[in-house]
Amino acid sequence: MTSRIIAVDPFDLIVFGGSGDLTYRKLLPALYHRHRDGQLPEDALIIGVSRRQMSPEDYREATRKALVEHVPADERDDAGIDTFLKRLSYLAVDASSDQGWEQLQAALKGREDRIRAFYLAVAPELFGIICGKLGSYALVTPQSRIIIEKPIGHDLASAQAVNDAVGVVFEESQIYRIDHYLGKETVQNLMALRFANLLLEPLWNAAHIDHVQITVAETLGVEGRGAYYDHAGAIRDIVQNHMIQLLCLIAMEPPARLDADGVRDEKLKVLRALKPIDEATAGLHTVRGQYRSGAIDGKSVTDYLSEVENKASRTETFVAIKAEIANWRWAGVPFYLRTGKRLSARMSEIVVAYKAVPHSIFEASAGNIERNMLVIRIQPEEGVKLWLMIKDPGPGGMRLRYVPLDMTFAEAFSARNPDAYERLLLDVIRGNQTLFMRRDEVEAAWRWIDPIAEAWSRSNDAPKPYTSGTWGPTASVALIERDGRTWHEDID
Ligand code: BG6
Repeated sequence: MTSRIIAVDPFDLIVFGGSGDLTYRKLLPALYHRHRDGQLPEDALIIGVSRRQMSPEDYREATRKALVEHVPADERDDAGIDTFLKRLSYLAVDASSDQGWEQLQAALKGREDRIRAFYLAVAPELFGIICGKLGSYALVTPQSRIIIEKPIGHDLASAQAVNDAVGVVFEESQIYRIDHYLGKETVQNLMALRFANLLLEPLWNAAHIDHVQITVAETLGVEGRGAYYDHAGAIRDIVQNHMIQLLCLIAMEPPARLDADGVRDEKLKVLRALKPIDEATAGLHTVRGQYRSGAIDGKSVTDYLSEVENKASRTETFVAIKAEIANWRWAGVPFYLRTGKRLSARMSEIVVAYKAVPHSIFEASAGNIERNMLVIRIQPEEGVKLWLMIKDPGPGGMRLRYVPLDMTFAEAFSARNPDAYERLLLDVIRGNQTLFMRRDEVEAAWRWIDPIAEAWSRSNDAPKPYTSGTWGPTASVALIERDGRTWHEDID
């Protein structure tokens, strides 16, 4: 199947934090890909903005370097890069003073009819300040929208403050809170799997599903982001957003339509049904860890504490949680979440583990009947495997065998898998908020996270140490094995 390229309407994109890591590593490569596929209108303008003094020529050169570094060689060409760079401009603007704002006004003058998107790839402390300036310099047009990156706040109160500050200048329908996991191909596929097939839905409930596992494992450490990460930890960096979003997509009721509020209303109901975990239950339902030195892919790596300023830091780099959803569909079905940095492999997946068959008609000699399992691999090697029992082929009587129905997408489809930011950026231009978090969703997620984080900070226990290159502290194995279950390992 070939991919479909649908051009978007004319737009101007203004990226605050235009010379930052996210912009060079993700946003500009994503825009380049869309440009190369012919999806951006002729006169779409991209303006990088940051405090740093730099000429537009220097910015284009820095962008060229970033593209060479972050776009695979077989997906770029010099001519394409040259035409892409022509769209780019740069302005030095200081969020906290008046410097540069009039120049930004002048750059956008006469372009009020076009879609105008402001991307805030900056620290959340600046969201309110920048929005205030956009308002006071009359830069917000009816066709304007704003994109903000997670983390939206540090807890419920600060998230509300951020949302209030942004809300003074932008309507909720203009605000795009990005969670890049929602733009990943396989995460999209979760919705297709669940709602474009009859096969799964009748069994998608507590009567047939034993438990669900969600793993987001990374081999990377904090990679120079220590100052941010040490303040956030895995619970705020990954669980509050990416993992909770995945949980919502698995657990939500079918929306009536695949539109922004249809989907977000259903996700919100899941968030509200999450059983609270507090000081009394955190010890049993959560595990946090922090990496020590070790080896990953044969290379030795240092411990977390030598990468951050606070040498006595208790920030977690690993979290495992047994979450429960108190509603009719999911009562009694644990959702085991685990995420960590410096783990044994980079791997994100969702495992839906079904219950055992009620009765076996087979002799013991046929072998064990394993439980069916649906494994949705988000990355790498995106795909879906449905593990089933079959008869071992050939003579020798009835012997049972556990095999996957394997749909690894790279093998099944030859199309390039677009990066999440490609889809999400263009959804902003199209005005489609389905894959973005609504204010009430973000705040409901914090309502569940805050008591966990508070219980941890009040507890005397430090995070459990784990060796880099392993699957985290042994306590996370105990968390699931205590219930007679095990973390899924690829047995292929
Ligand atoms: C980001 C986190 O949101 O997601 C990072 O801030 C993390 O710490 C990253 O490394 C993981 O994203 P991906 O797409 O590589 O799984």
